[in-house]
Amino acid sequence: MARDLFEAARDAMARCHAPYSKFPVGAAIRDSDGKIHAGANIEVISFPEGWCAETTAISHMVMAGGSRIREVAVIAEKLELCPPCGGCRQRLAEFADADTLIHLCDADGIRKTLRMDELLPYAFETGAIG
Ligand code: THU
Repeated sequence: MARDLFEAARDAMARCHAPYSKFPVGAAIRDSDGKIHAGANIEVISFPEGWCAETTAISHMVMAGGSRIREVAVIAEKLELCPPCGGCRQRLAEFADADTLIHLCDADGIRKTLRMDELLPYAFETGAIG
């Protein structure tokens, strides 16, 4: 069950740049064409300038020409399960659908799966722009 996505997230975690928090995170996205895009957290000495693993994965998807997120895997080796932070929930929602699956993983594989609308209920939307 989405083993390839889990493995991509786990392998991406090893590429984190997290010298300040020492908290490696990996994320992997399967887009609507079935392609996988992975990312890790990247920290900066001016701490607020760093960003999350999910954000790296989203940017890889967009630059590879992907448009919609079908499912996501997230892993952090120092946390049993690593639910995406609030900012990343909003970023994921930008490219996800209500039934997009977010898999929370540990070292052995997927441990918990949530839908996007469970992870970010009552999300900000506007019909007024665009
Ligand atoms: N982090 C992520 O990569 N994703 C999340 O959803 C939560 C937090 C990273 C940011 C920072 O590099 C480290 O975890 C500690 O907060």
